[in-house]
Amino acid sequence: MTNRRRFLAQSAAASTGVFYIAKTSWAQKSPGDTLNVAVVGFGGRGGSHISGYKKLDKEGVRVAALCDVDSKVLDRGVDAFDKEGKKVARHTDIRRLLENKDIDAVSIATPNHWHALGTIWAVQAGKDVYVEKPVSHCVWEGRQMVKAARKYSRIVQTGTQSRSSRKGIYEAVKWVRAGNLGKINVVRGLCYKRRDSIGKAEGAQPVPETVDYDLWCGPGPLADLTRKRLHYDWHWTWAYGNGDLGNQGIHQMDIARWFLGEMELSPLVWSIGGRLGYEDDGETANTQFIYHGYEKAPLIFEVRGLPQAAGVKDMDKYKGAGVGVIVECEKGYVVVPSYSKATAYDLKDQMILEWSGSEDHFANFINACRSRRVDDLHADILEGHLSSALCHTGNISHRLGAKEKPEAILERVKDYRTGTETFERMKEHLAKNGVDISKDLLTLGPVLGMNPETERFTGNDAADAMLKTNYREPYVVPEIV
Ligand SMILES: NC(=O)c1ccc[n+]([C@@H]2O[C@H](COP(=O)([O-])OP(=O)(O)OC[C@H]3O[C@@H](n4cnc5c(N)ncnc54)[C@H](O)[C@@H]3O)[C@@H](O)[C@H]2O)c1
Repeated sequence: MTNRRRFLAQSAAASTGVFYIAKTSWAQKSPGDTLNVAVVGFGGRGGSHISGYKKLDKEGVRVAALCDVDSKVLDRGVDAFDKEGKKVARHTDIRRLLENKDIDAVSIATPNHWHALGTIWAVQAGKDVYVEKPVSHCVWEGRQMVKAARKYSRIVQTGTQSRSSRKGIYEAVKWVRAGNLGKINVVRGLCYKRRDSIGKAEGAQPVPETVDYDLWCGPGPLADLTRKRLHYDWHWTWAYGNGDLGNQGIHQMDIARWFLGEMELSPLVWSIGGRLGYEDDGETANTQFIYHGYEKAPLIFEVRGLPQAAGVKDMDKYKGAGVGVIVECEKGYVVVPSYSKATAYDLKDQMILEWSGSEDHFANFINACRSRRVDDLHADILEGHLSSALCHTGNISHRLGAKEKPEAILERVKDYRTGTETFERMKEHLAKNGVDISKDLLTLGPVLGMNPETERFTGNDAADAMLKTNYREPYVVPEIV
C-alpha cells in the first residue's frame, strides 16, 4: 500500500472508529497451510506465548513477527530467533504490525489497558486473536471486544488456560452441574498469593530509555512514572491494572462462574478490602472479599496478598486450596486447587471422585483458527469478557467505598450467605499479620445493583461512570466497532 492510500484508509478509519480493514486471507487457506502468528508484548507472559507456538511448529504454526514497545525486550526476542536461523519481523507499534497481510493471528500479552484496543484493531484488520486475561481493563470495552469478534467473524481466545483442562476441571464442572452433589450453596474463588510491597518512589521516576512510553501508556493516561518499576508493577495501579482480583484472581473467578453456569454479570455486587500491612506506591487492594449475588448461589471471592502470619512465607489454605475454587453443595463439595485438577468430597470430607488433565490452550486456539468455528474454542472472548467484568464490578464497589469500623461491616455481611463466617476468617487472617481493623479501617464498598442485560448499574451514576475508561487520543476504543 502506498503512503497516500494508507493515509486515506486511516483517515476514513478515524471517522468511523475503524482503524484499518484488510480482507482476510483465510478463505484461500487450506488446512495444511502455514499459519503466521505475531506475539505482541513479551516481557513476561508473552514468552510463554512464543514457546507455546514454537511447540506447534509441526502443525504448521510459525512465529512470524514480534512486537514490543521496549526495544530491549524486542532485541532479546528477535536475537533468539536469529540464533535459531529463523527470520522474524520486528515491530514497536502494533498498528504497523497489523498492516502486514501475511500475519494471520495476533497473540497479545501486553498490560491490561492495551488488551481491548489491540484486539479490536486486530480483528478489524482481519486477524484472529489470543488475548491474555483479564481480556479488558473495564467492563464496557470487554463487550466491545465481543461485538468486534462477532462482526468480523474472527476467532478470539481468552488466555484463561484452565478452560483447556478438559479431562480435569471441565469434567468436574459437568458432574456438578448434573446435580451429583445436589444444589450449589456457594462457589468460592480464592487468590491467596503473596504480594510484597513494591516500595515507595521519591517523585517521578525515569522511564527506561529503551521504552516508547507514549505507546506503553496507549489508551491509559500519559502520566509520570510514580513507581520504581515500570514493568509488571502496573498491575497494582488503577490506570493500567486491576489488582490481584484481575491478575491471578481472574483465573479462579472464571472457574467459579463456569461451575455456576452463569452467562451474565451478577445482579448485585459489593466489596470489602484494603491495601494493608505495608505502605507503598500500589493502589489496588491486597486483601479483598467480593460478594456476587447470583440468584442460583453467591459467588464469593477472597484475595489475600499477605502471608499466613507476619514473618512467615507460607500462604493460607481453605479446604486444601490457596489459589483455587471451592464449590460448596448440599451433599458435599469440590476443590479445584490448580489449573488442571478437581476433587469431590462428601460432607464428611471423604473423597468421592478426582479429575485431572489439561490440553494445550494455544493448540486449541490454532485448531479453532483453522476450523473457523467459535464453538471449538475452549475460552471464547464472551467467557473472557464476563469473568473479567466480574473482577471489574467488584473493584468498582471497592473504589466507591468508604473506610468503616468492623461493627459497620458486620452489619453488612450478616445479611448475606456465609458473609459473617467469611468476614471473620478475613479478620483473623489480618490480625495474624498485625493488622488491627479497628485502627487500620477496611474499605466497605456500596451494594451495587446491575442490570445484566445492559451491563450498567441500576441507579448509581458514579458506578456507571467507572464502567468505561476515558481513553487518550488516538488510542480510543471505538464506540462502533
Ligand atoms: N495466563 C496466564 O497465566 C498469565 C500469566 C502472567 C501474566 N498474564 C497476563 O499477561 C499480560 C502481561 O503480563 P506480564 O506479567 O507479562 O507484564 P509485563 O509488564 O512483564 O510485560 C508486558 C510487556 O508488554 C510490553 N508492552 C506494553 N505495551 C505494549 C504495546 N502497546 N505493544 C507491544 N508491547 C507492549 C511491555 O514493554 C512488556 O514487555 C497481563 O495482562 C497479565 O495479566 C497471564
